[in-house]
This record gives sequence, structure tokens and C-alpha cells, in this order.
Amino acid sequence: MRRLPTDPGTDRYPPRAAIEEWPSERLEAAAPVDPVPEGKEVFAAVRSLKKSFGPRRILRGINFDIYRGETFVILGGSGSGKTTLLKHLMGMLKPDYGTITIGGQDLAKANESEMGAYRRTMGVLFQNAALLNSLSVLENVGLPLIEVDQRPLDEVQARVIAALKRVFLPAEEILHLKPADLSGGMRKRVGIARAIIQDPQLIFYDEPTTGLDPVTVNGVNELTLDLQQSLGVTSVVITHDLDAAYMIADRIAVLYKGRFIAIGNQDAIEADPHPVLRQLLSGSTIGPLTEGYTDTGDRPRPAPKGIRRRSSTDGDKTPSASFPASGLTGPEPTHGQS
Ligand SMILES: Nc1ncnc2c1ncn2[C@@H]1O[C@H](COP(=O)(O)OP(=O)(O)OP(=O)(O)O)[C@@H](O)[C@H]1O
Ligand SMILES: [Mg+2]
Repeated sequence: MRRLPTDPGTDRYPPRAAIEEWPSERLEAAAPVDPVPEGKEVFAAVRSLKKSFGPRRILRGINFDIYRGETFVILGGSGSGKTTLLKHLMGMLKPDYGTITIGGQDLAKANESEMGAYRRTMGVLFQNAALLNSLSVLENVGLPLIEVDQRPLDEVQARVIAALKRVFLPAEEILHLKPADLSGGMRKRVGIARAIIQDPQLIFYDEPTTGLDPVTVNGVNELTLDLQQSLGVTSVVITHDLDAAYMIADRIAVLYKGRFIAIGNQDAIEADPHPVLRQLLSGSTIGPLTEGYTDTGDRPRPAPKGIRRRSSTDGDKTPSASFPASGLTGPEPTHGQS
């Protein structure tokens, strides 16, 4: 990944001069919605979406399209409103203003049975997995098959086991355990198994890989790719994991101060000089995302102890994989610069 240089005088990133070209109106301006490319079909369209909680304006005019069959990744700082936006797409929250049209259906105008039909086409992984504590893993994952589809129990069990194995869980061992008897990472994977159990056409993932070990992270990313490539699933993924974003995203959107300030494919996101993007992609603690929260001023940042080197067998990874996960806030590495 190409990185913008730091300000040599202060090690400030992005450089102070660059920031000064970005007054708040420009920094917070919404990215335009691109015309639909040839061969793409709009699956979901969100326009002018606004949402406040009391006096706090969380979403201030969100505009974007999701194309059928794509994986649309949402990045943004903590508390920027990503989960809130996802809940609108799921029909769990109603906008104060604006429209959400999914599969030709305006969610605000849908009646209960239309919403029920919509929900049956989608799978959801909530940020905290949201499993029911009183139910076993089998019941949690199989619930929609039992309650909604009324499938026979032996079929439910076989499908639950298959779904658990797709997320690298020892299915038979944990089938009858309660969520409280699992580790945090296992609960997350059980949540993913539940999200895919009904073969959904649309999957919403809220931080699917947070808290998982690197091998399982890769497995979950491969699962997303596989569902897209073999079944044409459309996915919306919130993540803080840039490697994951680059591995799975067709397009990436960045939420900042209630708007998408950038929407584009990986090349467009890479090339975008927007200081919020540069900070997000660099992981720097200095920049607009942390403005007002830090008191480090222009002091140089502490030097990291080391930078993780990837082995040559990692060569099949995306370019971002050369961008170390640790040491992001430290000095520029001497290699891989352009
Ligand atoms: N039901 C609610 N009532 C009041 N405030 C809420 C509610 N839901 C979310 N918020 C507020 O909206 C803001 C955005 O929350 P949200 O959960 O969408 O953030 P996020 O981008 O998903 O953050 P994170 O990356 O930490 O998960 C937060 O300040 C939160 O306190
Ligand atoms: Mg969230």
C-alpha cells in the first residue's frame, strides 16, 4: 500500500499543510453517488438518510447504492454510526428522514408481512453475536429453520453442523452447549453460522472478525468470498480490519461525521487524499478522527518496538497485507515506499 508522507518537521500524519486545505465543510462533505456501471444492478438504494438520538445527529445525510452480488464494506471510527446505519438497512430502525429501498421495496412503506418476507432473505451477524443464552448452540443456529421454515429436526441438525463447520467450529462437541460455555471468538462464529443457515441472498455482518485469531479471520473472509462467488450473495460488512476490507470488498465506504465521505473501489480509496481516509488507512493517532480527543500536539509519536514482517509465503495476499498491522502509528518503514 502506498502511504502519504508525514510532515518531516513534526511527524504529523497527514501533513499539517494537507489538513489546512481541508476546512470542515470539505472534510465532512458527502461523496457523490456514482452512476450505476454497466452490467450492475442496484440492489439497495439509500438517499438522504438522517437519524438523531435526542440532540445527537448520528446520520446526517447518507447516500449510496449497493449493487446486487457485491461485497460492500463500511469503515469508520468507533461511534461514527456504522451499526446504526446497518440497523436501518435491516429495518430495525426507522429513519427520521430519507429513504431506504431494498430489492425494489421502500422499507418505510413496507407492512409487517412484507418486512417478514424481507427478513427471511437476509442473514445478520450482530456486533455482539446476540445469541440467546437459554438456548443451545443447535437451537440458536437452527432457530430460523425450526420456527420459520419448520424443517424436521434431523435436517436442522445436519444443516447446523454443516454451518458450524464452515466457520471452523468443532460442531459435534459444542452442539449442546449454551453460549455462556463458549469463548468469545466461538460465540462470534456461532453467530456467523446462524447468519448463513438459511442460505440468505443478503448478509449483514457487523465486525465479523473482531476478536478472532488470524487463521479464523482468514477463514471468515474466505467464507464471505465463497458465498459471493458461489451463490451470488450480496454482503454489507462493517469492519475495522483493513486487511479484511481489502481481501473481500468490491467497494468501500467511509463514514465520518454522519456522512459517507468516500465510496469507491480499492484503487479509488487508496488514491483518495482525504485526511480522514489517510488517517484510517494509516492507523495514525493524529488526524481529524482524533482531533480534539488527544493532547499530543505536535510531539513526535513514540517509536514502535518492531514491525511485523510477512513471510514470502504470504505472497498471494492483497497489497494491503504488506501494510503491517502493528506499528501503524510509528515512523515510516524504509521499504515499500513510493
Ligand atoms: N438506541 C440508541 N439511543 C441513543 N443513542 C444511540 C443509540 N444507538 C446508538 N446510539 C449512539 O449513536 C452513536 C453511534 O453508535 P453506533 O453503535 O452506530 O456506532 P458504531 O460506528 O457502530 O461504533 P463501534 O465501531 O464502536 O461499534 C453512538 O454515539 C451511540 O451512543
Ligand atoms: Mg458498531
